Amino acid sequence: MAKPLLAGNWKMHGTAQSAATLAGQIADCAAEAPDIILLPSFVCIPAVIAELAARTNISVGAQNLCQHAQGAYTGEVCAQMLADLGCSHVLVGHSERRALFAENNQLVAEKFAAAQSTGLTPILCVGETLTERQKGLRLQVVKEQITAVVDLVGLQNVCRAVIAYEPVWAIGTGETATPEQAQEVHAYIRAQLGEQGIPTPLLYGGSVKADNAAALFAQPDIDGGLVGGASLEAEQFLNIAQQMVEQK
Ligand code: PGA
Repeated sequence: MAKPLLAGNWKMHGTAQSAATLAGQIADCAAEAPDIILLPSFVCIPAVIAELAARTNISVGAQNLCQHAQGAYTGEVCAQMLADLGCSHVLVGHSERRALFAENNQLVAEKFAAAQSTGLTPILCVGETLTERQKGLRLQVVKEQITAVVDLVGLQNVCRAVIAYEPVWAIGTGETATPEQAQEVHAYIRAQLGEQGIPTPLLYGGSVKADNAAALFAQPDIDGGLVGGASLEAEQFLNIAQQMVEQK
């Protein structure tokens, strides 16, 4: 059983000031919480890290990174820059990056490798679209997304990361996978990874809210959550954290 983990993906919301305030509100009440990772937009990261200085169970990460280590890549942010700021984690392959910014499995694998080679822990996001689910392809899609990364960095390195199963049809839609649907895919991912020593945290994401969190976290292969909309409000996010503590 991996250690319970709750990540808040703030997407493109907030300003440095509002992000720091939200981080402070979460930190003030997070004593009983599981390990928490906050993922603000790039430009809010320094303010959030400053706000959280000396608070223990909250880490900060980014939502994306460039696959290259440095160079003439206007507008991009590399892993070393994130590590320098004090980030410990970074999302790779979020479905919005895949769908809206044309990130394919190969590019996601390269970003994963870039993160890990700089000491950041990647949170690899995988998940099928509604059409893929309707065609019965959910497990195959997830397998291919993970295999692309395994082929580049090796299974052991994938197992050192965090994996988030986020069915695309459940992200930001208010429609959540049932606990059984989520558990099925989590168990499948667990089997794909095999026994590699330290268990890889498997997070579920996709419209996790205070009212569905307990049933999801009660599933044996769901180790935590990746929360978007409901992470933008401290009370709701902490409520989800509390339910995780009770279930795990
Ligand atoms: P949501 O987003 O909780 O708003 O569905 C989850 C995510 O995109 O990580």
